[in-house]
Amino acid sequence: RAALEPRAERTCAIVKPDGVERLGRIMHAIGETGLAVASLRMAQLTRGDAEAFYGGHVGKPFFGRLVEFMSGGRVVAMELVGPGAVARWRQALGPTDSEQARAEAPESIRAAFGTDGTMNACHGSDSPAAAAEELNFFFGSGSTVRRCGTNQGTTL
Ligand code: TYD
Repeated sequence: RAALEPRAERTCAIVKPDGVERLGRIMHAIGETGLAVASLRMAQLTRGDAEAFYGGHVGKPFFGRLVEFMSGGRVVAMELVGPGAVARWRQALGPTDSEQARAEAPESIRAAFGTDGTMNACHGSDSPAAAAEELNFFFGSGSTVRRCGTNQGTTL
């Protein structure tokens, strides 16, 4: 029976520091994708974490700005699961640049919540392989990402 069901896929979604202040509205938008939230963690990335997460962009002109931004406030990482999760979540996000998203995909999450090409509200894995790596980064048993939570004394 399970074999007849659409194959579930997983992706890594991140609400970036600029999106966290509107987390409720973004969670609502995630609900509208039909994907299930299978895991969720609020975290504070160090500069080193952000450099590792975006290691594929080392050397690009925006890399320093991206690392500063991603380590400048809390993020919320999620595992989203459902058929075609990678493409479905990227479709919901819209183009990388929020201004372009407003022009080309006005209903998208980045159009609604992003500011520019760096502060663009949310991340989505670009392939199932990237999703596996990114989910391991946040949720794997060896993850060193610092969790946020009042039980650890984090000051909001
Ligand atoms: P990229 O993987 O190209 O886009 P996406 O997040 O849509 O998969 O880039 C990763 C992040 O790097 C992007 O979300 C924001 C940042 N970035 C910039 O700050 N400036 C840029 O010109 C680009 C292309 C990306």
